[in-house]
Amino acid sequence: MQYKGIIFDLDGVICHTDKYHYMAWKQIADEIGVYFDEAINDRLRGVSRMESLEIILEQYQGNMTEEEKQKLSEKKNNIYRNLLCQMSPKDVSEEVAETLNELKRRNIGIAIGSSSKNARFILEKIGLLEIFDAISDGNNISRSKPAPEVFLKAAEYLGCKPGQCLVVEDARSGIDAAIAGGFPCAGLGDAAAYEKTDYPIHKFSDIFSLAADGNWQESGF
Ligand code: BG6
Ligand code: MG
Repeated sequence: MQYKGIIFDLDGVICHTDKYHYMAWKQIADEIGVYFDEAINDRLRGVSRMESLEIILEQYQGNMTEEEKQKLSEKKNNIYRNLLCQMSPKDVSEEVAETLNELKRRNIGIAIGSSSKNARFILEKIGLLEIFDAISDGNNISRSKPAPEVFLKAAEYLGCKPGQCLVVEDARSGIDAAIAGGFPCAGLGDAAAYEKTDYPIHKFSDIFSLAADGNWQESGF
C-alpha cells in the first residue's frame, strides 16, 4: 500500500506541551490535596481532559459531583491556556519545520489528529495553523484516543482511506487508536518502545526513512 497522507499527533510529536499540562494539573491536584507526579502525568498523554481528571481523581479520597469536576477541568484549562500563551514558533524544532515543508513539497497530505480542544490555539501560537491540510481535534470527536475517531476524521478530511495514511504518535493510547482504526503507525518516544507500534522511530525526520521503500504517493494536495 502506498501512503497518501500522514496524520500527526500534536502534543509530544509536533511540539511539547507536557510540561504545561503537568504544571496546570499539579496546581489543581495540590488544591484538592491529591498526590500527582510525572508518572501520573505520563498516563494522561493522548486522553481527553475529563478522562485525565478521572485518572487524577483515582487518588482522591472524597466524593466529587459532576459539576465540581466540570469546574475543576475548566480551571485547569484556564491555567493551561495561560501557560500556552508563552509558546511561539521557537517551540517548533528546525527538524520538524523542515520535515513538514519537505512533505508539502512532495505533495503528501498532512493532518493533525489530536485529542486536544486547544489544538488550533497551539498551532496558531507555534505558527503552524496554515501548513496542515486538515485538523481533527478534541472538538470534532465524541471519544478520544484510544478510540480511533480522531484519526478516522482526519483521514476523511484528507480524503484518504485509513490504510493510505500513516499515523505518527508518541503515546501508547495513540498507537492503540491508530491500530483500532486500521492505520499503519510510527511511534516516537514512549511509543517507540511499545510493542504494538509498526515503525518505531527515534527522531521526527525518520519519517523519510519509511519513504525510502517507495511507500509514498502524491495526494494531490
Ligand atoms: C492531548 C494530550 O493532546 O490532549 C492530553 O496528550 C490532554 O494530555 C488532551 O489531556 C486534551 O487536551 P485539552 O487541551 O483539550 O485539555
Ligand atoms: Mg501526544
